[in-house]
Amino acid sequence: MSSLLVDNIGELVTNGVGADPLGIRRKAAVLVEEDRVAWVGPAAYAPAADHRIDVGGAAVLPGFVDSHAHLVFAGDRAAEFAARMAGEPYTGGGIRTTVGATRAATDGELRATVRRLRGEALRQGTTTMEIKSGYGLNVADEARSLRIAAETSSETTFLGAHVVPAEYADRPDDYVGLVCGPMLAAAAPHAKWIDVFCERGAFDVDHARAILACGQAAGLGVRLHANQLGPGPGARLGVELGAASVDHCTHLSDADVDALAGTAHTDGFGTTTVATLLPGAEFSTRSPYPDARRLLDAGVTVALATDCNPGSSYTSSMPFCIALAVREMRMTPAEAVWAATAGGARALRRDDLGVLTPGARADLVVLDAPSYLHLAYRPGVPLIRQVIRNGVPQ
Ligand code: NIG
Ligand code: FE
Repeated sequence: MSSLLVDNIGELVTNGVGADPLGIRRKAAVLVEEDRVAWVGPAAYAPAADHRIDVGGAAVLPGFVDSHAHLVFAGDRAAEFAARMAGEPYTGGGIRTTVGATRAATDGELRATVRRLRGEALRQGTTTMEIKSGYGLNVADEARSLRIAAETSSETTFLGAHVVPAEYADRPDDYVGLVCGPMLAAAAPHAKWIDVFCERGAFDVDHARAILACGQAAGLGVRLHANQLGPGPGARLGVELGAASVDHCTHLSDADVDALAGTAHTDGFGTTTVATLLPGAEFSTRSPYPDARRLLDAGVTVALATDCNPGSSYTSSMPFCIALAVREMRMTPAEAVWAATAGGARALRRDDLGVLTPGARADLVVLDAPSYLHLAYRPGVPLIRQVIRNGVPQ
């Protein structure tokens, strides 16, 4: 068995049990055996290993877990972004533009885009990235989107209910039937999760409930896009169905926050339904940010993710999202870093990710900085010095 010692760590974020929420250890070392963390402790007592990386006093943290991304697409919507910056509102209407380009693309083109964006994210410290379909919106193109996504990630999500495609515009019930029937059958072998865009102009709560229930019956876990563009029943539907995560959560009522808080584990482990906040979307659509403080103060588990997609948030950068969450959403740097690592892992119901404790997957990020604080303190600066994924230096 090959071993690797990551040594001379000035500040180690473990997200394990400790006096502070990040489980910080100073002057620490991490022993990796194969793809797992085998030991964490003081550098002075570090065991011998086959290989050693001396990080020279830098900060080390778990790799980012980006639990919400739409990477399988073709085309570019830079002009739509420019129009928004000139005052146009974001409506989600541009999704159909990307659907047209995605259907026309070859497998090779789609695969190249997924790999390019996944590589971009990895260089910025993302060691796990969920990938959704949702720009095919017919049986063949949703199935191939998920087949291509599954080549890159085991966290794949069927989003056939992103919007009603143009050819079904006047018969949405028929489209819901297609999603629940042949499309789900073709998608399920390549997907772990099912997602619906539950929003005015996309899918109403009855359609969303029907589609998510079909997905559950097919063995998929539930997550959904909800309360992004306005208030609505999506977040509570997520709670009703035991969703792993309700994503966006920009427009929540007190009842929505209470419902999310009501999913708390009895052991103080947080909520079973996570609120995943996507500040890149508010940044890129020039919209008000979600109220992270209100959710945190109510005891809701919060995750941060990029929402990487060509329309509302074309960023693959978790450090950028952390900086936005701290500056614009009043999260503390510690809360934001936790949400981007352990929070993302909770949103994917993975207890082997987002922590650096014995038995966890050996996904580590070495910063070009003495502290995790620098992720928010030095926005826009490439601070990711080295990434170790599955125990392998990248
Ligand atoms: O999460 N809200 C729906 N879906 C994406 C946007 C997709 C697009 O505009 O292409 C989102 O923001
Ligand atoms: Fe999204």
